[in-house]
Amino acid sequence: MSTPNSTIRMVDLVSQYRRLKIEIDEAMQAVIERGTFINGPEVEEFARDLASYIGVDHVVPCGNGTDALLISLMRLNLQRGDEVIVPAFTYAAAVEAAILLGLTPVAVDVDAYYNIDPKAVEEAVSDRTRALIVVHLFGQSCDMHPIFETADRHNLEVIEDNAQSLGARYSFPDGRSFYTGTMGAVGAFSFFPTKMLGCFGDGGAMATRDPDLAEALRKTTVHGQSSKYRHQIIGVNSRLDTIQAALLKVKLRHIDEAIAARRAVADFYDASLSGIEEIEIPRRHPSSTHVYNQYTLRIKNGRRDELQAALRSQGIPSVVYYPLAIDEQEAFKAYLRPASSTKLSRILSREVLSLPIHTEMNVEELKRIAEAIVKGLKT
Ligand SMILES: Cc1ncc(COP(=O)(O)O)c(C=O)c1O
Repeated sequence: MSTPNSTIRMVDLVSQYRRLKIEIDEAMQAVIERGTFINGPEVEEFARDLASYIGVDHVVPCGNGTDALLISLMRLNLQRGDEVIVPAFTYAAAVEAAILLGLTPVAVDVDAYYNIDPKAVEEAVSDRTRALIVVHLFGQSCDMHPIFETADRHNLEVIEDNAQSLGARYSFPDGRSFYTGTMGAVGAFSFFPTKMLGCFGDGGAMATRDPDLAEALRKTTVHGQSSKYRHQIIGVNSRLDTIQAALLKVKLRHIDEAIAARRAVADFYDASLSGIEEIEIPRRHPSSTHVYNQYTLRIKNGRRDELQAALRSQGIPSVVYYPLAIDEQEAFKAYLRPASSTKLSRILSREVLSLPIHTEMNVEELKRIAEAIVKGLKT
């Protein structure tokens, strides 16, 4: 627990480690003593545990979340020049993966929940469109019901980028509900340290209900080999280290506590910051639960950067995820097929501000942050 004047951090992985130290040390030590650093039994055990938690038959571990997206796209029978719809307000990995495979990304606008706008998806479909990467941003699900209506009508593969929202659930109008990352052809997960389930380095996984696709994804992670030195398909080298899997097995046992801790932080922020003229608190989608991988405000009237500087001067960190829309990024412009307006994505990139949120925050820290925000906007 930190004291009132202690350093406030965006995330506090060290305190989380100390709380779980006995379990984590034992699990990691076992791997070191055994020496099975690559493909040790913990990798498969963790894959089974995660599959059981999210309710799918197959989880294929890999090296990181970006590889999970790349490998998924490699196995969905897409051809060079095929169009893949992506959100314009997001992390770059999905767009980059599509471009690396010679596909044409089409960046479309997001909605008031910061997630891909189902209406913009429908409008962007052309006769070249074959797939759609939805990104469940900041901790809640995209609105999957209308998205699947469009995808089914046009025969599009749906890949879910679930790097940020492990543990969130989406409910369809007929009452069925699913964890994010389990609804499309493949769900891509990241275990980057700051994610919902973070390891001590890089890690990732793919989830699917299709056994043949699972097998193809698995082969792809090991240079396309069916058995040692028998290369059936073109693959890559993308593995989850045994030591990371051992750690992730432990942390997965505590994921529901971690989600509850993050929700408590979000509830505090919501209560303290709603009703302030220049602030829009993050909207909770009625069809999704929220796990708050990020707590992201909109700061109106062009005051975002000024508020961030005021917070910084009081020792309070904050981060802008993301300062440019995808179609404003120099690297991607030449590869994108322009779609309709990405107006809201551009506005968000100038208004969003993510506050500290993690599993170890205490009320004194939260009060200090809320007071600093109120004060920062008064001056
Ligand atoms: C939305 C999103 N997609 C993909 C990734 C890529 O994950 P990784 O860093 O594990 O490659 C990240 C994480 O940084 C992310 O936030």
